[in-house]
Amino acid sequence: MTTNFLWGSATASYQCEGAWNEDGRVPSLWDTYLHDNHLENGDIASDHYHRFKEDIQLMKEGGHNTYRFSLSWPRLITDLAGTINPKGVDFYHRLIDECLANGIEPFITIFHWDLPDYLEQRGGWLSKETIEAYVTLCDLVFKEYGQKVKYWTTFNEPRYYVFSGYFIGNYPPGVHNPQQTISASYNMMLANAEAVKRFKALAMPGEIGIVHSYGPIYGVDDRPETRQAMRDADNYYNNWILDTAILGEIPQDMLAKLAGQGFDLSFILPEELKTIKQNTVDFVGLNYYARVLIAPYETGETILAINNSGASGQGSSKVVVREWFEQVWDHANSEFTPWDTEIYPQGLYEGILMAHKKYGVPIYITENGVGAYEDVSGEVINDQFRIDFLNDHIDAIKRSMADGADVRGYYVWSTMDLYSWKNGSEKRYGLVALDFDQDRQRKPKASYYWYKAVCQSNGETI
Ligand code: BG6
Repeated sequence: MTTNFLWGSATASYQCEGAWNEDGRVPSLWDTYLHDNHLENGDIASDHYHRFKEDIQLMKEGGHNTYRFSLSWPRLITDLAGTINPKGVDFYHRLIDECLANGIEPFITIFHWDLPDYLEQRGGWLSKETIEAYVTLCDLVFKEYGQKVKYWTTFNEPRYYVFSGYFIGNYPPGVHNPQQTISASYNMMLANAEAVKRFKALAMPGEIGIVHSYGPIYGVDDRPETRQAMRDADNYYNNWILDTAILGEIPQDMLAKLAGQGFDLSFILPEELKTIKQNTVDFVGLNYYARVLIAPYETGETILAINNSGASGQGSSKVVVREWFEQVWDHANSEFTPWDTEIYPQGLYEGILMAHKKYGVPIYITENGVGAYEDVSGEVINDQFRIDFLNDHIDAIKRSMADGADVRGYYVWSTMDLYSWKNGSEKRYGLVALDFDQDRQRKPKASYYWYKAVCQSNGETI
């Protein structure tokens, strides 16, 4: 690995902070959605809001030199008028200062899904008003924290957020509406460009990027119809974010296909396309969990059955996007988690090289990890499966770098056990275990000690 390689782990505000109604924080759309539907929520989560110093000590003792976390918008700006919450602003000063005092480089995500509910009530990302409000947030955080922070990202996984909320409908606002999916996607990408524009206008000292849920595309065979389906799937899963944010171009064949299917694209304005073209990111963050295996579309309506409830849920996933592609889960020949996520490290190696060749910008692996049912009651928590998973994925990164890729950092998802969207405390990802039923005492797992040696040797132990 290079000498300044960033080794760390990641969290997101809603998933770890808790303190949902403390010190002036207002509800996010997730608070409202989970409370209204009586689902397990992140009211307390990992209680990071109160215990961040202890968590940063664990990072330091664990050999980390960086921490990726997100800012809670409903903690910072509390109404439509843009009222700033001084206690929220102060919290992130204290968090950043604590990182810096301990040799931990903060790597900040401005938006990791916890949209203030007052904006969701006005249409959320379907409304251009939200873009304006987002730029106001960016302006605030750049000015407040910009002299201390080198690494910024505008959004965590716009694709996952928008597709889950507006297409699959399993995340708030819980709708299935393809036209709205397209509008919300576009608004987030325009907001990304507006944020970059503001960052450059303020001449901020750091760098700014975007984080994408990267699904490298594979085909079931090499037929021309499979190749076409792969291209369509790449547009659907990756290109509309990566091409737009990095190259400043929305894929033309995707727009043509959408127009051909009768979607209304009249909301895309020439002035906005200019903003997108002129304000591209400095680097990209790739979250990698699994590859995407694609077959040609055969027949029938769109099916979006994603298993995000594990062994207790609806079983296997099935995805058919009418006239675009079908997604395949090759259970016979590959290994999967109980949530039907394939374990496929080679996809990270090949995916990084694909992204490197196509885009040429620095790459950070901003999330990688495995969710599991774990018994964390004993003295020792032996998560050997996680060690194997992380080992094989870090090895894939090393191989991609040996083959020329410019990878600059790696973040395990997640720092500690935290609230997994809709799976709550059932699906654990952490290097550090938490007892959610009692006092949330921190207990490092075997993977924590294993990762410490990796960080301290700069990857040599892999
Ligand atoms: C990523 C998100 O998509 O995957 C994280 O950025 C999320 O916020 C992680 O927790 C794992 O997803 P899940 O649903 O298993 O918690």
